[in-house]
Amino acid sequence: MAYLIGIDVGTTGTKTILVDENGQQHASALEEYPLHTPQPKWAEQDPSDWWLATVRSIQRVLAESQVSPKEVKGLGLSGQMHGLVLMDKGHRVLRPAMLWCDVRTTEQCHYITETVGEDMLVQSTCNPALEGFTAPKVIWVRDNEPEILEQTATMLLPKDYVRFRLTGEIAAEVSDAAGTLLFDVRQRCWSEEVLHKLGIDRALLPPVYESVDVCGKITAEAAELTGLSVGTPVVGGGADNACSAVGNGIVKEGRVSASIGTSGAIVAHTDEAKVDPNLQAHSFCHSAPHKWYLMGVVLSAGGALRWFRDNLGDSEVAAAEIEGVDPYEILTQRAAEAPVGSEGLIFLPYLAGERTPHADANAKATFFGMTLRHGKPHLIRSVMEGIADALRDSLEIIRGLGTPIERIYATGGGARSSLWRQIQADVFDAELVTINIAEGPAFGAAILAGVGTGVYDSVESAADEIIKITSATQPNADNVRIYEEYYQVYGALYPALKPQFDRVTAVVSGGGYSE
Ligand code: XUL
Repeated sequence: MAYLIGIDVGTTGTKTILVDENGQQHASALEEYPLHTPQPKWAEQDPSDWWLATVRSIQRVLAESQVSPKEVKGLGLSGQMHGLVLMDKGHRVLRPAMLWCDVRTTEQCHYITETVGEDMLVQSTCNPALEGFTAPKVIWVRDNEPEILEQTATMLLPKDYVRFRLTGEIAAEVSDAAGTLLFDVRQRCWSEEVLHKLGIDRALLPPVYESVDVCGKITAEAAELTGLSVGTPVVGGGADNACSAVGNGIVKEGRVSASIGTSGAIVAHTDEAKVDPNLQAHSFCHSAPHKWYLMGVVLSAGGALRWFRDNLGDSEVAAAEIEGVDPYEILTQRAAEAPVGSEGLIFLPYLAGERTPHADANAKATFFGMTLRHGKPHLIRSVMEGIADALRDSLEIIRGLGTPIERIYATGGGARSSLWRQIQADVFDAELVTINIAEGPAFGAAILAGVGTGVYDSVESAADEIIKITSATQPNADNVRIYEEYYQVYGALYPALKPQFDRVTAVVSGGGYSE
């Protein structure tokens, strides 16, 4: 029996799973770490936290599964996208990593659009300049910490830093490179034009592989620390959204997933690189060789419910401790006490600004329509409904691009709760299914490792063999009607509030506000 390891370097923690070639999971371990927000709009992490979490979680899956490290045929890495790790020539990390949800770079986005020219930028990278992407972060460092950029010898994405620690290899792969805004998404190589226009030295960027290519082997030092065998092959792996798509079988036209992790995403497989003419949906390289995907991103999805748990959910967390269950179980039980539509309470989940469709770092989360009648169940339910509305915005854009949608594969935290599945099916007015393996990105990374080491013939055939639909939630016609009305109100709120979001941002940053 061949075994595979998939590692997802996420925002809240690193999840490692060990599966066999039939997709049967033998062990899983999550090691958490903090996210630092030293200033409004900033979001940073310490790359050594990712590394420690990777080491511990590999140790734990090997111990829990009792699988001999020699039987582990390969390892795949998945990771949070767009983060920037800067290393000097001695491979020392020069500053904390700036993350996908760090939105300090609005000025740098304008600079990139003007300097490269929107036409060339979109022609080459298939995407517009957005705060979360990597290139604006590089320019921010150049503008604000030039001494750091001068010492930089290598720029890496989060999972590629972990790859470096595991294998000693400096490497990137297409699906994550696609999210840098320095990558030619159609040709699947670094964009010489964009690099040239921005004055970024190509030598700072790693060589790029396809996600299934083996591009490193476990070193003696990493083997000593983790318990893995020296020489275990490590494949390119992929961006978390690409790996999650692979792990949910989103590897053929017509397949679409709705994922709710810290961020939320609607992902649709495409056989060709497509560009949204309105530049609202992202267009990135898929982890299946020579395939692509379209994606809309909600910056605070599960992250918004976590924010609620951490700031307003003390009694639910305490009740969960007494009952020995996950606090989210208690939160969703309480949400179920409120009726469909939360009696007019509408939540905009823009806790960290928003990506799709508004691309606005100043957007703010909002509870709208609160009355004396509303209590905690309404608040929790409206958070869940607001996240589904935000995902629907992305779904409508992807539908509008002519993408065929047979059904929607739910994944992440939003797939685990039956209430949340029903809310999504009703808000999307579509059948929502779940599959036999709930580990999205880490599982996708394990599949890529299996393809790269010859355990499977291809990403598509592996997905067909292993992934099976295990539940289907149908939309309820009455609920669809109610949600449709609230979705119209939801959609009208952002444009109405936008001037006030800008105004309050200026006041908070101490810059004052003028019309
Ligand atoms: C995608 C994005 C997020 C991160 C989360 O563009 O920014 O979904 O990948 O890990």
